[in-house]
Amino acid sequence: MAWGSEHASAGPYGVDAVEPAARWGGDPYGKPAAEVGLYGCESGHSPAVCGEAGGWPVAAKCAREPRRLNPVKLGSSSGQAPRTFGRMADACFAHPRLAAIYDPLDPDRGDLDAYLGIAEEFGARRVLDIGCGTGVFALLLAERGIEVVGVDPARASLDVARAKPGGDRVRWFCGDVTALPPLQADLATMTANVAQAIADPHTWQTTLRGAHAALRPGGHLVFETRDPAGRAWEEWTRENSYRVTEVPGVGSVESWVELIEVSGPFVTFRGTYAFAADGQVLTSDSTLRFRDRDEVESDLVAHGYVVREVRDAPDRPGKEFVFLAQRP
Ligand SMILES: C[S@@+](CC[C@H](N)C(=O)[O-])C[C@H]1O[C@@H](n2cnc3c(N)ncnc32)[C@H](O)[C@@H]1O
Repeated sequence: MAWGSEHASAGPYGVDAVEPAARWGGDPYGKPAAEVGLYGCESGHSPAVCGEAGGWPVAAKCAREPRRLNPVKLGSSSGQAPRTFGRMADACFAHPRLAAIYDPLDPDRGDLDAYLGIAEEFGARRVLDIGCGTGVFALLLAERGIEVVGVDPARASLDVARAKPGGDRVRWFCGDVTALPPLQADLATMTANVAQAIADPHTWQTTLRGAHAALRPGGHLVFETRDPAGRAWEEWTRENSYRVTEVPGVGSVESWVELIEVSGPFVTFRGTYAFAADGQVLTSDSTLRFRDRDEVESDLVAHGYVVREVRDAPDRPGKEFVFLAQRP
């Protein structure tokens, strides 16, 4: 039996001033997700079984809006801090129309080279990619003959991943780490600041615990998180991020981000996406958790890891901490 196949139902973030939406990661919405069905696995099933659920209730309603700049608010509108704690997936990952443009809006994935190098350095043959999104990293690994399990709560992103060439070579799980079968991975990864997308403290602890359980003794957990000292959010303005992207088969898409709120370590921003083809405008609110190096190290130690090294991200020097933690 292939690694992880016993539960293989269906399927599964920094950048600079013009930070691609794809890597903004995390997020929360003002409206409870259950109300608007924003989760990738919005069935209400537990993540472990949501592989059997599907659909996107809001999109069907708004997909044919007439051409006008009247945003369909997939995110908050409550006037309260748009925290998304407890939500499994942001609209930018879980809405099919937004998941479909994740890769075209962020085509340069040079950030993954360092992760590929680390997989090679560790001689990893079995890799768990947590928060695999549209599967770019998972598929790069699979191409190299590595057995890969990808997990992500955003069903629409997993659908994109699965449909890519080689998508059938990866085991995709929809949900968080609690959706995973027993694994003995050599390496677990969280690329593109997934760790920051996991803003809710409880979910963060669950993720560290679940990754530890999924690793074989001696296996490594490797992930990045932005150094809060860099105050990256100060550059998340419409002026810095506005662009128009021609997406094959979709047409021209205007996109930008705006900072909504900074509240302690939580940074909330809104991504806006305007589709020229039919005038639809979608917004996606996200909250990221910024953690300093000491906090991450003590979280890792508390969950049984040994922190072997903290590196710089070669493509974003001085901006990220890349943690290499080992299950003893
Ligand atoms: C910025 S994207 C990065 C996707 C992918 N790792 C990449 O390199 O393109 C952040 C991803 O984290 C996922 N995510 C959010 N909360 C999660 C959780 N609790 N467990 C696993 N993934 C989660 C989101 O659905 C989203 O796909």
